[in-house]
Amino acid sequence: GSWYDADIDRVIISEEQIREKTEELAKQVAADYADAEGGILLVCVLKGAVMFMADFARALGRQGPSSEMEFMAVSSYGSGTTSSGVVRILKDLDRDITGRHVVIVEDIVDSGLTLSWLMKYLQSRQPESVEVVALFRKPDAIKVPVPTKYVGFDIPSEFVVGYGLDFSERYREVPYVGVLKPEVYARS
Ligand code: PRP
Ligand code: MN
Ligand code: MG
Repeated sequence: GSWYDADIDRVIISEEQIREKTEELAKQVAADYADAEGGILLVCVLKGAVMFMADFARALGRQGPSSEMEFMAVSSYGSGTTSSGVVRILKDLDRDITGRHVVIVEDIVDSGLTLSWLMKYLQSRQPESVEVVALFRKPDAIKVPVPTKYVGFDIPSEFVVGYGLDFSERYREVPYVGVLKPEVYARS
């Protein structure tokens, strides 16, 4: 067993489901960007999207145009479990994105605050296009509508961890997405 087994109440998205969905999303993006001048500039939103970025970029590379990787770190949650609504840039882009086809790679759309802010931020830098691929979305939690072109799974508004999603910086390495037992929150 693993250290986290006892903390997980139930699995809601399995490793296999994640693998299949990632292939599917990569296929869609590959088809839509087949003729994209200069390939795709993937912008990973750290830290949550780190697992999805690594798997999505490889799936895309096998079937689509070339891509490059950029990383931004923004935070809207801090260490709590609910969104503060305040988005801070912890790490900015390293390069100019003018004229590029940008695809933002996110793990989850919750309230939508992070992505709606980030899309505006990136659009202000004159890219050729900006779209979003998000592996998960909580439709019931949306506060700000975000045009998320590619979405993997709609999931219930429960606090979930794994595959990049954390609770106080932990559980990101869990290979599936699961719900934590209530006593785990009580402990912290
Ligand atoms: C989480 C998640 C998304 C964002 C979604 O990131 O990874 O980026 O919140 O929430 P929203 O739609 O309500 O804005 P978080 O701010 O926890 O930082 P992290 O990725 O480093 O965990
Ligand atoms: Mn995040
Ligand atoms: Mg987080």
